[in-house]
Amino acid sequence: MPVHRLTPILLCLLHMWRTLTPVSSHPQHRRCQLIQQTACCNNGQLTSVPEGLPENIEELQLNYNLFETLQNASLLSYPSLTALSLACNNLSKIELNTFQDSKLLKSLNLANNSLYNSYEETSLALRKLSGLIALDLSENKLTDEMAALLLQNLTSLEYLNLSGNLLLRVDEASFRDLHQLKELDLQRNLIFEIDNAFDSSPKLQRLNLAFNYLPCLTDFHMIQLEVLNVSHNFIEWFISRQDLNDTFQLETLDLSDNKLLFFPFLPSQSNLRYLYLSHNAIKFYEHLADNDMFPNSTKTVEFYNFNKEINNVTAQLWDENLHGDISSLETLDLIGNSVEYFPKGFIQKMPTLSRLQMHTNCLRTLNLTSEQFSRSLYELDVSNNELSQISADKATLTTLGNLTYFNLSLNGLKWVPMGLFSSLQSIRSVDLSYNNIDICLSEEAEISMHTNSTCMNWKNVMSLRQLYLKGCNLKIIPNTAFAGLSLTHLELSDNPGVTIHQSIQSLSTTLQHLGLGNTHIQDIDFSHFQSLKSLNISKNFLLHLPHSLQNLNLKVLDLRDNRLSTIPSGQANALAPKLQTIFLTGNQFNCCQTEWFRTFEATNTIHMVEQSAITCKDLFLRTHRVENPQSFLCFDDGESIFWYILLFVPVFLFFTGVSIIVLLTFKPTLLQKSIKKKCLKPTSY
Ligand SMILES: *[C@@H]1O[C@H](CO)[C@@H](O)[C@H](O)[C@H]1NC(C)=O
Ligand SMILES: *[C@@H]1O[C@H](CO)[C@@H](O)[C@H](O)[C@H]1NC(C)=O
Ligand SMILES: *[C@@H]1O[C@H](CO)[C@@H](O)[C@H](O)[C@H]1NC(C)=O
Ligand SMILES: *[C@@H]1O[C@H](CO)[C@@H](O)[C@H](O)[C@H]1NC(C)=O
Ligand SMILES: *[C@@H]1O[C@H](CO)[C@@H](O)[C@H](O)[C@H]1NC(C)=O
Ligand SMILES: *[C@@H]1O[C@H](CO)[C@@H](O)[C@H](O)[C@H]1NC(C)=O
Ligand SMILES: *[C@@H]1O[C@H](CO)[C@@H](O)[C@H](O)[C@H]1NC(C)=O
Ligand SMILES: *[C@@H]1O[C@H](CO)[C@@H](O)[C@H](O)[C@H]1NC(C)=O
Ligand SMILES: *[C@@H]1O[C@H](CO)[C@@H](O)[C@H](O)[C@H]1NC(C)=O
Ligand SMILES: *[C@@H]1O[C@H](CO)[C@@H](O)[C@H](O)[C@H]1NC(C)=O
Ligand SMILES: *[C@@H]1O[C@H](CO)[C@@H](O)[C@H](O)[C@H]1NC(C)=O
Ligand SMILES: *[C@@H]1O[C@H](CO)[C@@H](O)[C@H](O)[C@H]1NC(C)=O
Repeated sequence: MPVHRLTPILLCLLHMWRTLTPVSSHPQHRRCQLIQQTACCNNGQLTSVPEGLPENIEELQLNYNLFETLQNASLLSYPSLTALSLACNNLSKIELNTFQDSKLLKSLNLANNSLYNSYEETSLALRKLSGLIALDLSENKLTDEMAALLLQNLTSLEYLNLSGNLLLRVDEASFRDLHQLKELDLQRNLIFEIDNAFDSSPKLQRLNLAFNYLPCLTDFHMIQLEVLNVSHNFIEWFISRQDLNDTFQLETLDLSDNKLLFFPFLPSQSNLRYLYLSHNAIKFYEHLADNDMFPNSTKTVEFYNFNKEINNVTAQLWDENLHGDISSLETLDLIGNSVEYFPKGFIQKMPTLSRLQMHTNCLRTLNLTSEQFSRSLYELDVSNNELSQISADKATLTTLGNLTYFNLSLNGLKWVPMGLFSSLQSIRSVDLSYNNIDICLSEEAEISMHTNSTCMNWKNVMSLRQLYLKGCNLKIIPNTAFAGLSLTHLELSDNPGVTIHQSIQSLSTTLQHLGLGNTHIQDIDFSHFQSLKSLNISKNFLLHLPHSLQNLNLKVLDLRDNRLSTIPSGQANALAPKLQTIFLTGNQFNCCQTEWFRTFEATNTIHMVEQSAITCKDLFLRTHRVENPQSFLCFDDGESIFWYILLFVPVFLFFTGVSIIVLLTFKPTLLQKSIKKKCLKPTSY
């Protein structure tokens, strides 16, 4: 599907190099570059269409100039023009006869101008463009009436961009003549009402209404629409017309960042594949349907249509059929809602579901057996819920053969099914961070094969590459914990005091990222980790950088919040040529041993993150920025200071002694004088 944006600008940049070589013998305007049939005259301070370009040019780009008016005769010399772009000028007016002879013009980009000024004359000019297919009127401060007038008679228009204007409501008059319209962008207006606005555009396939003020969409019946984006509105209800027998063509529906309380009432037959519902307040209410506690509670809600003799919409609130047709769904994004459970059979209705994103909801249990997830499930994210247990029987787990990303972090998980990970044949990434879990000791692993387990076990899970165990309160990692794995990412940070022993050594050939921040590890031998690219050993009270690091090919090294006083030159020189990013803040470096800083600074390929916040202490324990060596005084190197002090101290002691003796000798007279002065002062009454 062609999308008409400001791509011409890009095109011009891409071809800029050509201007270095004289490609064309045509007389060129000073500020234009010619590329085949395209004239690029962007950023040229132009106020009128340049003359003297080849007569047969087909595309003319005049973006980022100083046009205020496009004049009557200005395009007369270029009758072959099919695309004209005048974005980001200060264009107020297009004169009546400007397009008199532009019969071939198909694409007109007028984005980011001031067309609100003389829209009446401009609209008369546009009317001559009977063959126009794409029109960009975004960012022009247009109101409802202005837009309606400008669009009159544009019967062949297929792509229209009205984003970033001042439209408040659209109705049947707004797009009346746009019978061929396929794509309409209305984002970032102030639209709060839609009244049959799209009925005259039966071919509309893509509609973007994001960032408006719509309070609800009831009676949705645009059967031909493929993509509907109404994210970032104030929508409380989305209700499709239920009495239509046709299959809706809808494939993508974006309702994220609204105020939905209910799962949207989708068309009863559709091809919906991508449904985005993140950041609403969606819950399921099936448990209220046959509630004995509130026998007379409302079960339906009715939407009155005051305007016309159109049917009122009645919705049975607790009727599960109102979820509509979700049988083609591949992606369901419910991030940041209030879902406590899935209604019975809900997951089962999506036999091709591939991604389910439930991050930040209120799920309490997840029974994979009863939900019956699809065999195509690829990503399951149930992080940041209230799960204390996941249940599944062995047969169920083997059906999840496509599950690749499984995110269980930020729950209160205590129980997982036996052999959870070993049954998932494609599992690649498991995130168990911030749960209270343990890793099975080998004997326990045997037991957990037979019952549900309180400890996790992933021995010999061949496909697993990424394992995140941050903040799991781990105490001991058994030596065999990672046996038989080929992990590339292992995250063990935020497990203070964990005993790692030899467990990670079995990963030494494959591991690329290792997170050991805030684990209180001291000296680990990294010398065998030849594939390691990224290492986090922050927050570990380290006094020295482990020696084994310097032979690795590290690209990223996080050393924040340790107790390093220096990095010996040998290590700095060895690390510098390989490192790309290093984190060093939160250490108390010795100001007089900061050679390493100059080494890293002189290496262009290293990025020292927050470089200006790296600090050191001088002899008098004052803090300085390492990057300003002139702010602290240092002698050649740390050791020679010692000798200066040794020399200085006896001399200082000698003079102090002499001063004290002198002082004591003269003290009585001093004392008397001061007493006299004070007491003889005349006092006032
Ligand atoms: C419409 O214009 C806006 C701003 O000029 C732009 O961000 C958006 O991508 C355009 N829409 C389409 C569909 O090209
Ligand atoms: C442009 O042409 C129209 C029609 O011929 C005429 O009415 C109008 O005055 C012209 N505008 C200018 C600025 O010449
Ligand atoms: C709109 O055009 C003005 C120049 O007329 C420019 O400064 C501004 O950045 C443009 N805005 C966008 C969103 O391109
Ligand atoms: C745009 O043109 C109007 C007159 O039509 C003028 O008042 C305004 O200052 C211009 N704005 C810029 C940014 O040049
Ligand atoms: C524009 O459309 C109106 C009806 O919508 C019609 O009366 C008028 O003749 C059309 N004008 C041109 C120039 O096609
Ligand atoms: C909907 O529009 C918003 C704003 O332009 C955009 O960020 C989002 O990606 C769009 N949604 C889809 C599914 O394309
Ligand atoms: C839909 O089909 C049912 C029965 O198949 C029929 O009674 C009903 O009138 C149809 N509705 C429409 C709008 O065609
Ligand atoms: C429910 O409605 C019935 C009949 O309308 C009435 O008899 C009953 O008292 C109502 N129950 C409650 C709890 O209001
Ligand atoms: C819709 O409901 C209102 C209020 O009950 C009623 O006045 C109106 O006649 C109904 N319209 C239709 C078409 O049923
Ligand atoms: C999970 O669902 C299955 C099938 O419905 C059921 O047999 C099993 O008892 C459930 N497990 C739990 C822990 O609820
Ligand atoms: C597994 O998931 C991926 C990604 O969504 C998909 O491309 C692939 O077709 C799925 N495989 C099966 C067997 O469903
Ligand atoms: C797992 O075991 C615990 C304690 O033995 C029990 O409370 C829990 O219900 C069991 N879960 C399953 C799914 O069997």
